[in-house]
Amino acid sequence: MTAGVFISFEGIDGAGKSTHIQPLADALRQHGRTVTLTREPGGTPLAEKIRALVLNDAMDPLSEALLMFAARRDHLRQVIEPALAAGQVVLCDRFTDATFAYQGCGRGFDSAVLTQLERWVQALPDGGLRQPDLTLLFELAPEAAAARLSGTRAPDKFESQPLAFFRNVAAGYALRAGQDPSRFARLDAGRSREEVRDDVLSVVRQRGWL
Ligand code: TYD
Repeated sequence: MTAGVFISFEGIDGAGKSTHIQPLADALRQHGRTVTLTREPGGTPLAEKIRALVLNDAMDPLSEALLMFAARRDHLRQVIEPALAAGQVVLCDRFTDATFAYQGCGRGFDSAVLTQLERWVQALPDGGLRQPDLTLLFELAPEAAAARLSGTRAPDKFESQPLAFFRNVAAGYALRAGQDPSRFARLDAGRSREEVRDDVLSVVRQRGWL
């Protein structure tokens, strides 16, 4: 049977990652793959309820991190692991790197605690750790991302953070990418939509999944 493939999409708010999920899903389906499109926080009825809480209610960074990982645990068990076991491609709009970038570097929360939560929540029966096979990191200057977002919709709790927060989040993503360079593809999201889309497709093609 075809092996499952797990691809996550990451970047600061406004970098445009969500725009590129659908074209990749279409290309993979044309290639004969079954695709599960999902997102974090969210992706299951329980995790979507948690999403509404963390995106709107004020809370301390530990509560925020615990809720992100609680949502992730449900999402992994209900959606991601079954889809991968069935040989599907899972395209996930954000995953654990977002917690390290937003709660870790953005909020300044202890990354050692996040690492422990990651180990518990993403543990595999064989003792390994579930991580995406590929993480597409859309990189854009925080000023440009803010300009793209302004006026598009009412900002949520994170989107309304100041530029300094997003500089820290971007640094957090860069740190994670540096720790696991073979998993990450860093894309310059400041180019045209078509150029970025072509890059996404060619990265996935290079991995042999298209
Ligand atoms: P986002 O993925 O940008 O969705 P939308 O395009 O619908 O706004 O929004 C999710 C927000 O949640 C985003 O601001 C980042 C934040 N977030 C965290 O802070 N930690 C996490 O672990 C995850 C998955 C998301």
